[in-house]
Amino acid sequence: MTLEIDVLTLFPGMLAGPLDESIPGRAIARGLVTVRVRDLREWGIGRHRSVDDAPYGGGAGMVLRPEPVGDALDALRRPGSTAVLMDPAGEPLRQSIARELAGLEHLILLCPRYEGVDERVRSLVDRELSIGDYVLSGGELAALVVIDAVIRLVPGAIEEASTVEESFSQGLLEYPQYTRPAVYRGMGVPDVLTSGDHGAVARWRHAEALRRTLRRRPDLLEVRQLTPDERRVVDAERAAIDGERSGDHVGRSADEGAGRRSGVDPA
Ligand code: ADE
Repeated sequence: MTLEIDVLTLFPGMLAGPLDESIPGRAIARGLVTVRVRDLREWGIGRHRSVDDAPYGGGAGMVLRPEPVGDALDALRRPGSTAVLMDPAGEPLRQSIARELAGLEHLILLCPRYEGVDERVRSLVDRELSIGDYVLSGGELAALVVIDAVIRLVPGAIEEASTVEESFSQGLLEYPQYTRPAVYRGMGVPDVLTSGDHGAVARWRHAEALRRTLRRRPDLLEVRQLTPDERRVVDAERAAIDGERSGDHVGRSADEGAGRRSGVDPA
């Protein structure tokens, strides 16, 4: 089944470049995903194909009218479609939502411009998504973020293993990765990674993912049931953090606890 995505926008040119490149570009070229960019003005009102108007009650800026959106959605919707309004007041995008969307057959992403949308537009869509607590000039970049996050989860778009271990997929940030050279500017590579002991590597990576998540995104751990082994790692790291805060640590970077990196002496 090919995932089909229709993007409704007043600035179709904003979408073209990013969808031609890299993983989205390849997935589209290989027919794993179809993305159609539709100009909302096709459903504009009157000779000028107007899509916006001044807000009732006064105030700055223009508001997207409901009729062009309603007509566009009527034209594009079919059984199994999910229409999404990109809006800073929407539900914050998470990896689990991207996964959900990647399993759908037809997504319609509505990208408003102007000061906002007529409130009645919200009743025309199935969900509203925000990509973060900041305001963009319009929904196009947000839609691109959603499309990118979704496309890479479509089976065949990238190696399956990459999406299993990456950040957020298990509710944790990803463990640190290393490649050559073995020493760079005095910084080494953890010995365990060159030990050839796959079990030890897996345990180290999981523990590092837990430690990193505790330090950078403790909110992610609050909603996670820890196994006894995970609890031990987290408790030890928490003790290390407390030690650092009380000032009894020796010169570690803010992110990592003491004593886990391989012993390459800084020259
Ligand atoms: N449109 C403007 N800002 C946005 C945001 N943060 N997320 C989604 N859509 C938006």
